[in-house]
Amino acid sequence: MKAIKTIFSIAMLAIFVASMAPAQSKSWDIPANYKDMKSAAKTSPASIQAGEAIYKKTCAACHGKTGVGNGPKAKSLDTKPSDFTSAGFQSETDGAIFYQTKVGREDMPKYDKKIEDTDIWNIVNYLRTLKK
Ligand code: HEC
Repeated sequence: MKAIKTIFSIAMLAIFVASMAPAQSKSWDIPANYKDMKSAAKTSPASIQAGEAIYKKTCAACHGKTGVGNGPKAKSLDTKPSDFTSAGFQSETDGAIFYQTKVGREDMPKYDKKIEDTDIWNIVNYLRTLKK
């Protein structure tokens, strides 16, 4: 009986710990028309600078100053923002990143009505500079 109780307690503890850990983000379903979308903002120092300014003001709270996903607000979220400097993130198309920013999902806000498309493309250009 004692063994069963112990096993039960361990199982409950494991479930509890698992539920506390932020969920690893599942892959995004990017609609085909976004995936292959061409950027409306050619990359340039001015575009990158514009994107960086918005990023620091709007995105860094969750995504972190350096884009690794460790912003002060990240801890209170159910899902973890991924690492923008990683090869995995950087292998996504510009259009996919544009879609994720414009449309969002769950903890990732929807910026559709808040940031102009051209500025979202400026942010995409900035995020490209974070590549390791
Ligand atoms: C309130 C916190 C929060 C803010 C502010 C925020 N994000 Fe996110 N973002 C997230 C979370 C959490 C995810 C992961 C969501 C998921 O996987 O379901 C995410 C995901 C993303 C992704 C997809 C890649 C990934 O990390 O999974 C991109 C691109 C992105 N965010 C860009 C931005 C940009 C650009 C801004 C600012 C304009 C921004 N985010 C602001 C929380 C935030």
